[in-house]
Amino acid sequence: MAGTPGPGTGNHPTPADAAREAVVEAALGKLDLDAKARLLAGQDMWSLPALPEIGLKSLVMSDGPIGVRGVRWTADDPSVALPSPTALAATWDPALARRAGTLLAQEARRKGVHVLLAPTVNLHRSPLGGRHFEAYSEDPYLTGAIGTGYVQGVQSGGVGTTVKHFVANDAETDRFTVNNLVGERALRELYLAPFEAIVDNAHPWGIMTAYNTVNGTTMTEHHHLVNEILRGEWGFDGFNVSDWMAARDTTAAVEGGLDVAMPGPRTVYGEALAQAVRDGEVDEAKVDAAVRNVLRLAARVGILQGAEPAVTEPPQPIDGEALAREIARRAFVLVRNENDALPLKPTGSVALIGAAARDARVLGGGSATVFPARIVSPLDGLTAALPDGSLTYVVGADPTTELAVADKGFELRAICRDADGNVLGTGSAPNGQIQWMGSDLPEGVTHDTLHTIELTGTFTPRESGPHTFGVKGTGAFTLAVGGTTYFDDVQRPADDSDPFEAFFGAPVPRAQAELAVGEPVEVSLTYVFELPADIPLKVVAFALAHQGPQRPADELIAEAAEAARAADTAVVVVATTDRVESEGFDRKDLRLPGRQDDLVRAVAAANPNTVVVVNSGSPVELPWRDDVAAVLLSWFPGQEGGAALADVLTGAYEPGGRLPTTWGSLDDAPVTQVTPTDGELAYTEGVFIGYRAWDKADRTPSYPFGHGLGYTDWTYESVEVDGTTAKVRVRNSGERAGREVVQLYLAPSEPDAARPARWLAGFAGVEAGPGETVEATVELPRRAFEIWDEKASSWAFVKGSYELRLGSSIVHRGLTATINV
Ligand code: BGC
Repeated sequence: MAGTPGPGTGNHPTPADAAREAVVEAALGKLDLDAKARLLAGQDMWSLPALPEIGLKSLVMSDGPIGVRGVRWTADDPSVALPSPTALAATWDPALARRAGTLLAQEARRKGVHVLLAPTVNLHRSPLGGRHFEAYSEDPYLTGAIGTGYVQGVQSGGVGTTVKHFVANDAETDRFTVNNLVGERALRELYLAPFEAIVDNAHPWGIMTAYNTVNGTTMTEHHHLVNEILRGEWGFDGFNVSDWMAARDTTAAVEGGLDVAMPGPRTVYGEALAQAVRDGEVDEAKVDAAVRNVLRLAARVGILQGAEPAVTEPPQPIDGEALAREIARRAFVLVRNENDALPLKPTGSVALIGAAARDARVLGGGSATVFPARIVSPLDGLTAALPDGSLTYVVGADPTTELAVADKGFELRAICRDADGNVLGTGSAPNGQIQWMGSDLPEGVTHDTLHTIELTGTFTPRESGPHTFGVKGTGAFTLAVGGTTYFDDVQRPADDSDPFEAFFGAPVPRAQAELAVGEPVEVSLTYVFELPADIPLKVVAFALAHQGPQRPADELIAEAAEAARAADTAVVVVATTDRVESEGFDRKDLRLPGRQDDLVRAVAAANPNTVVVVNSGSPVELPWRDDVAAVLLSWFPGQEGGAALADVLTGAYEPGGRLPTTWGSLDDAPVTQVTPTDGELAYTEGVFIGYRAWDKADRTPSYPFGHGLGYTDWTYESVEVDGTTAKVRVRNSGERAGREVVQLYLAPSEPDAARPARWLAGFAGVEAGPGETVEATVELPRRAFEIWDEKASSWAFVKGSYELRLGSSIVHRGLTATINV
C-alpha cells in the first residue's frame, strides 16, 4: 500500500499529538454536561456549535468527493469539480489521488470548511448501485489504495475527512432501513477492507456511519463494528459522524460509538442526550469519550484555542483547472482501438455527435453535486483544439427521455415573499433547482416569515418548437410561461415513501409553449413553502424542469449518419442522465437511455471510423461495441472534461485509465440484486463480487477489470521475486512515451472453491520513452495471502504455492512466477 502516514496520526503519536491531547483533556474538563451534549449535535445542516468558554470555534463540514460545495447550494461561490470517483480510481494512481485531496483541502480552506464529507469507499457490489459513480472500485485493495492517497492529500492540507459510508452502503434502494445480511468473511475481506487500509495507512480524522443496518443493527448504533473493530482492533482515533439523519436513538447511538448526530438542530443528541445521562440511561463517561473525539478533531483542524493544528504550513497552491484536466485524461479508459483509430490524424474532418457532446454531464447527482465556475464540453474542447472548419456538430439523439432541471438558456432568481406578498429577500438560482437546507436562506429570509418562493426570470430557447415545462417537488405550485398560467394546483408524488422525493423524484410536465429560437420568454414558478412533514429538517426544495422540442428520433439519427458519412471520423458522445445515475435510487438496467444505441449503430454503418465516447459514471451496456473503431470511457469527467477529451483524441496525451470495475451486460453480471426482500438484502454471494464473481461463474465480460489501452505498446520482459517483492521489467516497445500500470494478481496454484480464482495483490505505475525498459517494484502485502477465518474470528495466513500473474489487466498474462509461502 502506497504512502506514508498523514500528519497528526493516532496510531503513531508524536509529541505534537501528546500536546494536543493535553489541550483536549483540559478543554473537556471545563465543559458541563449540557455543553458537552450540545457539542455532539449539529447546530444546523453543516456545523457544530462554537463553545467560546473553551475557545472552540464552530466546526464546519461539507460534501463531497469531487469538490467542496461549502455550506450553500449555490453557484455564487463556485467549486472546482474534479472527475467522478470512478474516474479517480481508473487512474490507478494513489499519488494522483493524493494531489486531488490536497487540492480539495485548498478548496475547503477557501470556503471555511474544516471537514470534507468524503471519500466514499463502499464497493461496486452490483452495477445497478445508484451511487456507483461515487465509489471507487469493485476491488477492496484498489479502493483502499486510492482512498489512502485521497485522505492523505486532504489531511496534508489540514482538513479532516469522513471516510464513508461505514459500512455496506453499496446500494440505494430503501437505504434508510435496509438490513444488509453480510457474512463475517465478506465483511472483513471485502467491505471493511478499504476502511481498514485507510485507517492503517492514512489515519483519517473522521468516519461517517451509514444509513443502513448490517446484520440486524443499524450502523449508527453498531457497537461491534464501530467500538470493537474500527476503534478497538484498528485503533481509529477520529470522530464518528452519522450520515445525515441516520441517528435514530439517543442511548443506542451513544452506546454504539456515534460521536456526532447530523444535521441539526433537531437530533437525538443535544438536550435529549443530557437528559438520558440525568435519567441514568447513559453513562457520562460515554459522552466524554465522544466529546474527546470531537475536540481532538477540532484541535487537528486548528479551531481549538491553545492546540497546535496538525498542519501549520498549508501545501503549495494547486491550479484546480489544470489538475481537473490532468486527472480526467489520466482516467479515460480506451477499451477498444482498432486500426489505430485514435489518436485522430492531424488532418481530417470530424463529425461530433451527441447531446452530451454539447451539454456534458460532468458529475453525478445527489450530495456530491458542486457548481463549477465553468464547464468545458466536448464541443468546446474540440472546437478549441481542431483546425477551423474541420469540426461539425449534430445532436443525433438525446439521452434525456423526460424533463430535466431547467438549465441551459435559463436566467433565474428566487424571490422570497411573506404571506402579505412583501419581498423578504432574493436568492440566486444556479439552475432550476432550489435546495436551501437549514439556515441556508437568502439574506432577510427566515423560515417563520417565508411564505412563497418565486423562481423567475427568462428562458432563451436554443431551438424553435414546443417546449415543455414541469415541476419537481411536493406542495402548491403556480407555473407561468410567457405570461400564461399553465398550472396552479397542488402536486403530490404517487409514492411519498422517500423523504427526499423533492430531491430525487421525477419532474411532472405541466405546460407546453410554442417558442422561437433566440427569443427570450418570461418564466415563473411559485411555490408555497411548507416544511417537509417527515424530515426533522428545515428544507426548501423544488425545481423547475424543462424539455426542448422533440424532433423525431429517426430524423435526428439520419441527420447524424449523414454528418458522419461526410467526415473522416465520427465521434459520438453517449451518456447517462441524472435520472439514471444519482444518489437516492438504484438503476433499473444498464442501457443507455433514449435512442443512443440506434444512433451509434447508424453512425457506425455510415462511417467505419467511428469513435464512441461513453460519458457515464458507471458501467453501461455497449451492444454495438464490436462494430465501432474505438470506445473511450470518459466517466463523469469533471469541469475540464472536454479539454481533456481533446487532449486525448488529438494525441497530445494518451488516455491513462484502466478499468477499476468489470464492464459487462446486466444479464451476464453475476451479482446484481439491490432490492431488499422483506427489508433484508442478503449478500448471498459471500466474497464473490466483481471479477471474483465473473471468474466463479466462468463468464466473460465485455471488458475485464484492469483493462485499458494507451498509445504505445509494452513488452513484459522479466520478473524477479525476492520474498514478497516482485521486480518486473517492462519495455516500451511502441513509438511514443507512455505510462503502464503493472498489475499483480495472485492465484492459488491449487484451486480452492472457497477462494476467488485470482485477486489483485498489488500494482505499480511506470513511465518510459519509446524503446526504454523500466523496472516496476510491486510489494505483496501479507493480507493478500490471508483469509478471514470465521470460526477462529481471526485472519489466517494460507500457506502454499501461488502463481503471480503480472500484466496489464486481470486477463493479460505478461509474465508469471510461482512462489511458495
Ligand atoms: C449522503 C452523504 C452526505 C450527506 C450530507 C447524505 O444523504 O448519504 O454521503 O455526505 O447526505 O450531504
